[in-house]
Amino acid sequence: MNQPRMGGIAAVNAPAYVKQQKLISWVAEVAALTKPDQIYWCDGSQAEYDRLCSDMVAAGTMKKLNQEKRPNSYLACSDPSDVARVEDRTFICSAKKEDAGPTNNWTDPAEMRHTLHGLFDGCMRGRTMYVVPFSMGPLGSPIAHIGVELSDSPYVAVNMRIMTRMGKAVCDVLGSDGEFVPCVHSVGAPLAAGQKDVAWPCNPTKYIVHYPETREIWSYGSGYGGNALLGKKCFALRIASTMGRDQGWLAEHMLILGVEAPAVNGKPGKKHYVAAAFPSACGKTNFAMLIPPAGFEGWKVTTIGDDIAWIKPGADGRLYAINPEAGYFGVAPGTNDKTNRNCMASMRDNTIFTNVALTDDGDVWWEGMSSTAPEHLIDWQGKDWTPAIAKETGAKAAHPNSRFTVAATQNPVIDAAWDDPAGVPISAFIFGGRRSTTVPLVTEARNWVEGVYMAATMGSETTAAAVGQQGVVRRDPFAMLPFTGYNMSDYFQHWLTMGEKLAALGKQNNVELPKIFCVNWFRTGADGKFVWPGFGDNMRVLKWMLDRLEGGQTGGVEHLFGVTPRYADLSWEGLNFSEEQFDRITAIDKAAWKAETALHTELFDKLKYHLPQELAEVKLALEKQLAD
Ligand code: GTP
Ligand code: SPV
Ligand code: MN
Repeated sequence: MNQPRMGGIAAVNAPAYVKQQKLISWVAEVAALTKPDQIYWCDGSQAEYDRLCSDMVAAGTMKKLNQEKRPNSYLACSDPSDVARVEDRTFICSAKKEDAGPTNNWTDPAEMRHTLHGLFDGCMRGRTMYVVPFSMGPLGSPIAHIGVELSDSPYVAVNMRIMTRMGKAVCDVLGSDGEFVPCVHSVGAPLAAGQKDVAWPCNPTKYIVHYPETREIWSYGSGYGGNALLGKKCFALRIASTMGRDQGWLAEHMLILGVEAPAVNGKPGKKHYVAAAFPSACGKTNFAMLIPPAGFEGWKVTTIGDDIAWIKPGADGRLYAINPEAGYFGVAPGTNDKTNRNCMASMRDNTIFTNVALTDDGDVWWEGMSSTAPEHLIDWQGKDWTPAIAKETGAKAAHPNSRFTVAATQNPVIDAAWDDPAGVPISAFIFGGRRSTTVPLVTEARNWVEGVYMAATMGSETTAAAVGQQGVVRRDPFAMLPFTGYNMSDYFQHWLTMGEKLAALGKQNNVELPKIFCVNWFRTGADGKFVWPGFGDNMRVLKWMLDRLEGGQTGGVEHLFGVTPRYADLSWEGLNFSEEQFDRITAIDKAAWKAETALHTELFDKLKYHLPQELAEVKLALEKQLAD
């Protein structure tokens, strides 16, 4: 990787396969500002991945796990100050403040550019700048979009190889004049001559910045997850949502799954695709890989994606969805062979683990992986950990937001169409929060506008996926609060407008709008434990939705704000779940809903600029019903 230097500036040294002068000039420009020791163009090969990983092992950033127990896998442990997305340091710098809206942090773009110029000046000194060309979506597909991330973190480079289609092939698609979204990332920890590096460089000052008009991303100070892997939340959600608004499509924080009914008389069962938005660490990866429980023999659930969906209307009035990613950056704690065997199988090998615990025999462990913890571990902060220490100090072996990075192709239930550039037709949308009270197991919206209202007003208890207080209920519209790259009210309007357009197109083609459902797996009982078994048993709710899709208006009752199943409408085969337990997670408490709608009012007051009138009307109708 030694490259000649010219006049103290690292040579760009673009490989011959890079045909785009604009890209080469931009790399040179960023290098002139950030002043890395050298520039390295990632080709995306296995050999390159292996080499970068072993370099990081030598540098102390990663540990190689036991080759027998966890082949070709690594453990990286971050600085304790850099463990999750930093929402209060994330900025949407649109030209006008109103375009970022009241849910985003905004700074005038010129002012932000000035601040960042100061921070990025010389920030890569002593480091290598990796040039990471990546495609969100299948390579060369008309719905894919290309980005190039310049990062001084080799951890980012190897994770991007798993999470996206990355390397030389992307440059081939870019050709001499293809479009790309420029993404600049630095851990913000330049090294002076001779200074020894730390295992996880980062900076207490963090900026995750988006310029939606010019479609640029600048990230400083963090090496972790969505702060640093810029194809994911920054590009595929924040920038892509603004592209979708301008171009008439949707970029959503949604998993996409296929669900196929059992074959009848040798004929394959009917298959549907559904997309589901749950906030961070609220169950998307698990739902996307769901294993149907006992009593559901013959049902098949397959994964298109586990975190992000790009959804475009087809000429037939259907919505078609693709997963722009190529890998999963999934939550480790709570994952085990009982809750999700598919997830465990995906990470049997070729996995990068971040912030989980290390076992004495060189494997990994996290809370919830097994019912009894190993007798001794090295925790994610490198300290000795035993069950006795944990009992005394409450120390977690794995950080609650510890994660695994794996290629989607390792998923045993990957859908055959998972990288079909045409996407898959969506039959239903599901929205779900983490609510210990109030919100029932499942509700079907009576129409598109009421569905948009339910999604817009969704609340959820905060999780470890973002830095900040946990377990507090906040409104998280469409599970997109931290990810909508523009004004939230305009985003609601975009959903309503899409619905109108689709309905018109659908009428000509005899196609119905996707149904919209709201779910909550997380109601708790008097003991504070989840009442609903969740995970595979969520299939019971999914089947009810499919029954509703196929059977029209049967199998449910209308109540205050939608349709819910009665006990007898769900299939209980293979599960001991009483009607009394069912009531506990489906009961609608009028007083609690009055308090809930007061929170909707608070949200709508905050979002009053451009808030669609239709949504205000749905709220009025709901309040009237509650008052009766
Ligand atoms: P992000 O990657 O942050 O967007 O998270 P996600 O939405 O993909 O959530 P994930 O599936 O990783 O689940 C997060 C946590 O919730 C894990 O600890 C899971 O074990 C747990 N979880 C997932 N599904 C269920 C469920 O149905 N019931 C319960 N009780 N817990 C669940
Ligand atoms: C989330 O927080 O929703 C994630 C993890 O999927 S991260 O990539 O860090 O954003
Ligand atoms: Mn997510």
